[in-house]
Amino acid sequence: MSIDAIREFIAADMRAVDEVIRTRLHSDVALIRQVAEYIIGGGGKRMRPALVLLSAGAFGYRGRHHHELAAVVEFIHTATLLHDDVVDESALRRGRPTANSLFGNAASVLVGDFVYSRAFQMMVGVDSMRVLQVLADATNVIAEGEVLQLMNCHNAGIDEEDYLQVIRYKTAKLFEAATRLGAILGGAGGAAEEAIAMYGVHLGTAFQLIDDVLDYSGDRQSIGKNLGDDLAEGKATLPLIHAMKRGTPGQAALIRRAIEHGGLEELGAVLDAIRGSGALDYARGQALAEARAACDALAALPASPYRDHLLQLADFAVTRTY
Ligand code: IPE
Ligand code: IPE
Ligand code: MG
Ligand code: MG
Repeated sequence: MSIDAIREFIAADMRAVDEVIRTRLHSDVALIRQVAEYIIGGGGKRMRPALVLLSAGAFGYRGRHHHELAAVVEFIHTATLLHDDVVDESALRRGRPTANSLFGNAASVLVGDFVYSRAFQMMVGVDSMRVLQVLADATNVIAEGEVLQLMNCHNAGIDEEDYLQVIRYKTAKLFEAATRLGAILGGAGGAAEEAIAMYGVHLGTAFQLIDDVLDYSGDRQSIGKNLGDDLAEGKATLPLIHAMKRGTPGQAALIRRAIEHGGLEELGAVLDAIRGSGALDYARGQALAEARAACDALAALPASPYRDHLLQLADFAVTRTY
């Protein structure tokens, strides 16, 4: 089963989600429409809305709120990307110039705020305190993750545990929230909700681990982002952390310097050190272990085609090249 099969399985629901996204992006302010439609028009993998839809399905939900909440999580994701590309000074996203490079930092930040707050307007419509709680907590933790990461910038002393904390906050939290929303809509009880939430945490962690591997090993065309963005800003991701720990003293010193100074002058040498020390394989292995833990968590759910597709999504998260 491929990602195409997963897409096909939820195609009708995703069309409904796209319609919600299209109508809810509306604003009378022209610049908001321009920037918001630009970033949404870039597409993206729609991982998080897929999680809401599959999770709701796995718990037998039959209403319409899952379309609205799938759009909500995609809006929250989109808002974080608008802000993230400003902070990371990234120039390419979804195969096109980033909103910040086209419209400027101010427009990106402010339209990000619009998309964020639109998501909150929408979630109120579901009229569920639990839903509000999950999404309020998730957005708060994502912000903590991004700030934690900012504090860690240019710090070559951070270890694997520090790194994992950042990615659980900044990325895995929204995956967790997406899966919880489906469970809440489906009226699943405590243990079942916790099981799929654990799936979400591990899946999100695997997803970000691979994102960080692709930043050094991906193909610019496929990932639609510039390679080396993490190194440029002095971000100590797992490939660098592991290469410092397991590489030769020379490799460790080189990477330490590159993190402390940032920039891409040493990218070639850093790539050699990462590859030479087996750091990419190590990070891929950690992602695989997280994906396996995600799948294990799903054993607590009743068998269904929805559960099968969630299992396949975990496979995609670690085999993806984009
Ligand atoms: C990018 O997320 C940010 C990360 C958490 C790695 P995605 O890779 O899901 O971005 P799109 O939506 O597909 O562009
Ligand atoms: C993105 O992390 C995390 C959030 C959007 C909160 P990254 O900075 O690693 O994602 P990319 O590589 O820019 O997509
Ligand atoms: Mg970034
Ligand atoms: Mg990245």
